[in-house]
Amino acid sequence: MKSIELRQKFLKFFEEKGHKIIPSASLVPLENVEFAPTQRVLFTTAGMHPLVPYLLGQSHPEGQRLVNIQRCLRTDDIEDVGDNVHNTFFEMLGNWSLGDYWKEKTISWSYEFLINFLKLDSKRIYVSVFAGDNDAPFDQESFEIWRKLGVNEDHIFKYGKSQNWWGPIGQTGPCGPDTEMFYDLNPSQGKVDPAGNSNRFVEIWNDVFMQYDRQADGSFRPLKQKNVDTGMGLERILMVLQNTPSIYEIDVFLPLAKKIEDLSENFNVKSARIVADHLRAAVFLILDGVIPSNVERGYVLRRLVRRAIRHAALLQIKRDFLNDLAKIVIKTYGEIYPNLGEFQATILEELAKEEDKFKKALASGIRQFEKIKGDISGRYAFDLYQNYGFPIELTIELAEENNKKIDIVGFEKEFRAHQKLSQKAGQKTKGGLVSQSDKTVKLHTATHLLHQALREVLGTHVHQAGSHITEERLRFDFSHQEKLTDNEIKKVENIVNQKIKNDLKVYQKTIPKEAAQEAGAIGLFAQKYGDLVSVYYISPTDKIEDAFSKEFCGGPHAKTTGKLGKFKIIKEESLGSGIRRIYATINK
Ligand code: ALA
Repeated sequence: MKSIELRQKFLKFFEEKGHKIIPSASLVPLENVEFAPTQRVLFTTAGMHPLVPYLLGQSHPEGQRLVNIQRCLRTDDIEDVGDNVHNTFFEMLGNWSLGDYWKEKTISWSYEFLINFLKLDSKRIYVSVFAGDNDAPFDQESFEIWRKLGVNEDHIFKYGKSQNWWGPIGQTGPCGPDTEMFYDLNPSQGKVDPAGNSNRFVEIWNDVFMQYDRQADGSFRPLKQKNVDTGMGLERILMVLQNTPSIYEIDVFLPLAKKIEDLSENFNVKSARIVADHLRAAVFLILDGVIPSNVERGYVLRRLVRRAIRHAALLQIKRDFLNDLAKIVIKTYGEIYPNLGEFQATILEELAKEEDKFKKALASGIRQFEKIKGDISGRYAFDLYQNYGFPIELTIELAEENNKKIDIVGFEKEFRAHQKLSQKAGQKTKGGLVSQSDKTVKLHTATHLLHQALREVLGTHVHQAGSHITEERLRFDFSHQEKLTDNEIKKVENIVNQKIKNDLKVYQKTIPKEAAQEAGAIGLFAQKYGDLVSVYYISPTDKIEDAFSKEFCGGPHAKTTGKLGKFKIIKEESLGSGIRRIYATINK
């Protein structure tokens, strides 16, 4: 079964059972979803993450039964990437009950889908249930349901919290016992322990019964409502359905894997898989607005890209390769995520820049590494980070390959000391972080004005292809063939400055996607199916119909346009393939 057919079958199966299809949220947790500080994480790691407020009791506009395919990123499995079943980026098929159905329906539907729709061999399915402990009892109910469905007792395993409990995502929030389904890849091979033997058994689906809210003190309180949260890894179930030795041979990976093999002059499986995984993750991160940097999400992206470059070097891929591979990812997923095409220029550019930056540093850094006699001190590891851009895990990998010890604690100490110093320096020169963000927020609002002004002057074919804001300027990429004339640039500037002078208000509303589109909202939005979206509009009245600019956007923005300053375009250039780029500033 091809991946596209699986996607359709899954959504349809649950739609017919009263579920509303909701879109995949961004890998960057949305700013319009309210998370407590203890629930926050850098990335969307599971389908339930964007649903946390609703699992806690808020009512969801689409009702109590939901289904989707969510893009996820998990960096805690990064060391396992290269084996048969682990990825950083992956997609998760999930269905949810928000205080509606409970265990009987959940388990029966999972089983029905696996057996009747995916036609898996019931004899090769093993399941596990929560064994019970001080926080919650043995999940007898799930055990009985599996029995009733005809699963033999010797195919039902009981495990404790480490296996059969899921959540919360941060330190607090919804969680509960779960029941997991495994598929036996190699029947009749010795002792059976589904959770303990990942070569033989692949975990395909997890049904979580979210009835607890973990507190900051580690205790568990019953939630207001009993919820169900399920997750089936798309890559893993496809590996079973397509009967491939690993996830890297399934239809969504194969073209990428083949290309890597073609480019390699010294092939090894593990490096090839790392390149494939990390590159695919990088493409989706950039799609969701992450740019390589030295902090937070940007640093995760940088590490993924740099590790891919280093493993490409081990494979002896001799030329710049990231763009070739990214194009394959964009093509493979283009139909499911139409924004990949729209964003292609930005994705390729960011990857090429990072490749360019790191490739030279990698070669000289490795020469530097080779000069080190004996073990790697914290100071050396930090030098490699500071002067050659080596993320610590790269130095760890090199140390392992060369049988050297590395002082990671020492590295972290150096790292923290350095961070403190540069923070202090930053505060001195720039007068604190608050004013910085004030400026970038204003530039963000100016970007919306620019977008609309361009559409008025050049035509509605103008669409955003990328945007990047620093303290000094905004940068805006958009679809348009010809160079802008001086007259057009003047016109655009005049419109933006007029709107600034009019001191329009900036409003935010969360409304159904269709309503937003009807009102003419524009901007980057990957969602395929109806859902609520956040729209920012800049308007003389509070009505969206009267607005000058309306865009899908997560914010933040200035409250009004009056204080943005004077808008000026400082540069206009081509990015090739019908994309133009504008740099602009706002000054008092
Ligand atoms: N949230 C559950 C998981 O990720 C379904 O396994």
